[in-house]
Amino acid sequence: MGISTAGQQTSARWDDLYRTGWNFRPLSGVEPHRLNLHTHRGQGQHAVDAGCGTGALARQLHAQGYTVTGIDISTVALDIAQRGRRPPRHLRYLHHDLDGGDPPCIPLGEISLVTCRLTLAHLRNAAGWVKRVRTTWLRPGGILFVLTPIVGGLAAVQWEYEGLQQSQIVEIAGQGWGKVTSYSHGSNTLYLVLRSRTDAPAVEGAGGT
Ligand SMILES: C[S@@+](CC[C@H](N)C(=O)[O-])C[C@H]1O[C@@H](n2cnc3c(N)ncnc32)[C@H](O)[C@@H]1O
Repeated sequence: MGISTAGQQTSARWDDLYRTGWNFRPLSGVEPHRLNLHTHRGQGQHAVDAGCGTGALARQLHAQGYTVTGIDISTVALDIAQRGRRPPRHLRYLHHDLDGGDPPCIPLGEISLVTCRLTLAHLRNAAGWVKRVRTTWLRPGGILFVLTPIVGGLAAVQWEYEGLQQSQIVEIAGQGWGKVTSYSHGSNTLYLVLRSRTDAPAVEGAGGT
């Protein structure tokens, strides 16, 4: 699937940032702990890290046994993630614009875990994308794990940490999940653990959001 003109602009912006050597908040020890409270070991299960950047979380999920697809719009970030080597078996990186529909070749309706760390607020239609993940990407009982700044404080003044509005959080949490858990992380960041219903139909269709 090609990337639209708007997508190319987004891509160029992120590429420039990664070329400066920018590193976003490194994974903290708390994050894997929170994740592990809600997931089982990943052996044989599919995980997608949406907006994977330089791949720290994707590598960690892979080390836990998941078959992982890391997706990002920045080729510079993906090059850094791959460090000039072919990724190991069961870990791959895809260049894709999450605003442009579903990525090719991910097993729709069979994904156990989707992570979206510091990326959701950058998508053009965050709630629409989340709905698509729930209805089409995740298997019944699968989890979407979001880490996002919320608007206010620091989040409001640093564009790379743009946040979601409270109203967006309410909309996302109210979309028909089986279970929603949230944790605050510092003064302006939220974890959302969204578990899809176990009685959800596997895949509701393959169009856009
Ligand atoms: C703040 S960084 C977070 C990166 C990584 N998740 C982390 O925690 O370090 C946001 C990431 O989202 C990616 N991104 C932004 N818009 C995107 C889009 N429309 N499709 C795919 N990736 C996107 C950027 O390239 C960037 O790598």
